[in-house]
Amino acid sequence: MAAPRNQTIFDLYDGESPVATELRRLYHNAKRNEDGRHYKSFLVTSSTRGEGKTTISTWLSMTIAQFPTKKVLHVDADVRRPRAHQIFGLENAVGLKDCLAEKVDPMDVVKKTPIPNLNVITAGERTAQPGKLFESENLKEVLSKLEFYYDVVIVDSAPVLAVSDTLFLCSEIEAIMMVVLAGVTPREVVQRTKDVLDDSNANLVGVVLNNASQVLPYYYDYKYYGYTTRESQ
Ligand SMILES: Nc1ncnc2c1ncn2[C@@H]1O[C@H](COP(=O)(O)OP(=O)(O)OP(=O)(O)O)[C@@H](O)[C@H]1O
Ligand SMILES: [Mg+2]
Repeated sequence: MAAPRNQTIFDLYDGESPVATELRRLYHNAKRNEDGRHYKSFLVTSSTRGEGKTTISTWLSMTIAQFPTKKVLHVDADVRRPRAHQIFGLENAVGLKDCLAEKVDPMDVVKKTPIPNLNVITAGERTAQPGKLFESENLKEVLSKLEFYYDVVIVDSAPVLAVSDTLFLCSEIEAIMMVVLAGVTPREVVQRTKDVLDDSNANLVGVVLNNASQVLPYYYDYKYYGYTTRESQ
């Protein structure tokens, strides 16, 4: 799924591909809370670098945006390794960083895409103290506003075990999805990430087992990993 030079996700995305099918299933299984209400915000994270967070989150946003009734916003919250602007072929001069650091209105940094019901907020240019951004009191306000204007907000993030950014985000986002790189991320590391997320009261709703070598993310629910869901307790 890596984009050849000058190609964007709009050239590569195939709604009938096995990846899109798995991601439709993932969203279908993870989209409701126990009362049946649809979650509005999802954070895609992982234990460590390079497990496929950006790949999965951007394809997930594209997949949900295929439903014509869903107004989808993709947010790049990985301010340390921003990628969404390249993947969607957008400018990155202003983005989430400016909303958090300068109180810029998030609706002023939303970018349009060729898909009418898919908008993007890129990360914005790199900043000297990225960790401080997520401690900002603006974070809650920004996310609440975005959840008000969109049906689904998909947030790409930094890895949980590397930096604290994602833990700050977790407490403001309704549903968390964890990507695990199949055959690479050790079981103990996955467990450690689960423990750290639990300690932060993160609402982990799904795990994506990303088999990058076969270009196919498999979705498994908690039961597969021996986790318990609220429904099964
Ligand atoms: N299912 C997949 N099929 C093919 N390539 C993949 C898949 N998942 C990830 N990759 C490739 O692996 C690399 C890392 O993926 P990606 O950038 O999505 O990971 P990440 O978790 O966002 O990394 P980082 O922690 O650096 O932000 C990229 O080159 C991406 O194209
Ligand atoms: Mg990434």
